[in-house]
Amino acid sequence: MRRRDGARALVRIAALACVAIPLAAAAADPQFPDGAASFQANCSVCHGAAGTGLPSLAPPLTSYPAQYAASAEGRRQLAMTVLYGLFGAITVGDKHFDFKMPDFSRLDDATLAATLNFVVFDLGHAPASVKPLTPAEIAAEREHPIDGAGVREHRKSVAPAAP
Ligand code: HEC
Repeated sequence: MRRRDGARALVRIAALACVAIPLAAAAADPQFPDGAASFQANCSVCHGAAGTGLPSLAPPLTSYPAQYAASAEGRRQLAMTVLYGLFGAITVGDKHFDFKMPDFSRLDDATLAATLNFVVFDLGHAPASVKPLTPAEIAAEREHPIDGAGVREHRKSVAPAAP
């Protein structure tokens, strides 16, 4: 290969990489773009941009939330967690966490529903049989304030059994 061809090929690879890397990192084309924006602004600092969590600090959101969204009590759990936070020891898969998630009750119902839908569908890949969370479901939980320890108590009835 002549030198010039090699240089041209390198430029082409660099140009492709510039397009491909940001798309992959941003979970290209989310189903819930408003939720994606809110997640990156409010949640990714602890849970990571792709929701994979931080070891011993914040749990991954790529599996359990999608499972919660398939049952009525699990959907309440999701709404409660963002409205009131979560406090105390929990297990996600074979990993343990014992920290405090802050509450996000300052965000409106539509924003919280969209944020959870981004978690459930874009990060968690819930099947199409699962219905997106609605602002009305968030509003219903706003009517019943509890604290982060209470949210953890309710979680026991919906979380998959620890291995
Ligand atoms: C300051 C760090 C922090 C931020 C910001 C944060 N979280 Fe959390 N989140 C946590 C921690 C820590 C836990 C686990 C708490 C525990 O150990 O009891 C958690 C738990 C959760 C859970 C429960 C997972 C399960 O298996 O039950 C969900 C759902 C969740 N967060 C969603 C969100 C969403 C959505 C946002 C943004 C609106 C967010 N979090 C913002 C730290 C954070």
